[in-house]
Amino acid sequence: MEIDGASAIVTGGASGIGEAAAKRLAALGARCVIVDLDEARGKEIARSIGGEFARADVANAEEVQAAVDAAMALGPLRVLVNSAGVGSIGRTIDREGKPFDLDAFERVLRINLVGSFNCLRLAAAAMARTDPVDADGQRGAIVNMASAAAFDGQTGQAAYSASKGGIVGMTLPIARDLRAIGVRVNTIAPGLIDTPIYGEGEGAEQFKANLALNVIFPKRLGYAEELASMVVELVTNDYMNAEVVRVDGGIRLPPK
Ligand SMILES: NC(=O)c1ccc[n+]([C@@H]2O[C@H](COP(=O)([O-])OP(=O)(O)OC[C@H]3O[C@@H](n4cnc5c(N)ncnc54)[C@H](O)[C@@H]3O)[C@@H](O)[C@H]2O)c1
Repeated sequence: MEIDGASAIVTGGASGIGEAAAKRLAALGARCVIVDLDEARGKEIARSIGGEFARADVANAEEVQAAVDAAMALGPLRVLVNSAGVGSIGRTIDREGKPFDLDAFERVLRINLVGSFNCLRLAAAAMARTDPVDADGQRGAIVNMASAAAFDGQTGQAAYSASKGGIVGMTLPIARDLRAIGVRVNTIAPGLIDTPIYGEGEGAEQFKANLALNVIFPKRLGYAEELASMVVELVTNDYMNAEVVRVDGGIRLPPK
C-alpha cells in the first residue's frame, strides 16, 4: 500500500519502537500524528518528522477521537500503529502470600489491551470514510504491538502476558471484521528490544545483558529500527493480513 501523502497514527510514538516506526513512516511520505502521554518528547519527535502531536491516553475515547480527527485533517488516515504500552512485574501471590493487586492488573489490561482496541476501533471508523487506494478496495493497514510474553510469559508476567495475549487473540477476528472496509490488521510480537521501557543506568544495563543471554542469534537485544522495519513491511505488503509475527532473534523466554 502506498502511504505517501496519507496520514498515520502512531501511539507510543514518543519513545522506543513507536518513535522508530513514526520516523520510518514519515520517511515514506506519511503525515504522522504521534499519540502519547509524554508531551515534551512527543512534540519534539513530531516536529522532527513534520508531523503533529496529540496528547491522549490510548484508553480514553474522547482524547483518541481528537487524535483521529487531527490525522484526518492531515490526509486520509491509512495507518495505525498501536505501540503504546506499559510493563508490569509481580507474582500472582508474592513470597509473603499476598495476592497481586487487582487494580494494578486492570490498569495494565486497560492500557495495553483496551487502549489498543480503542485506538483501533476509532481509527478504523475513520478509515472506512476514506476512498479506497487500489483495485482491491484497500483503505488502510493496522499494526499492533503484542510481545513474546503473549506466548511464553515469565514468572511475574501474568498481567502483561494477559494484555498481550488479548492482542494476539483479537487480531484474527478484527481482520475478519475489517475485511468489509478493506483494512488489514497484523500484530508484531517483539522479543527483547533495547528501548527506554527498561529504564536507564547500570542496573538497567545489567538487567538487559541478562535478558540477552537467552536470545538465539544475534546474541543481543533488538534495535527499535528492526521492529520499525517490520511495521513498514506489514503496512506496505498488501498480502499480509491477520498474522502475528515474532521479531525476537529466536528467543523463547525462560520461566525467569
Ligand atoms: N521493548 C521491548 O523489549 C518490548 C518487548 C515486547 C513488547 N514490547 C511492546 O512494544 C510496545 C512499545 O514498547 P517500547 O519498548 O517502545 O516502550 P517505551 O516505553 O519506549 O514506549 C512506550 C510509549 O508508550 C507511551 N504510553 C504509555 N502509556 C500510554 C497511554 N496510556 N497512552 C498513551 N501513550 C502511552 C509512553 O509514554 C511511551 O512513550 C509496547 O506495547 C511494549 O509492551 C516491547
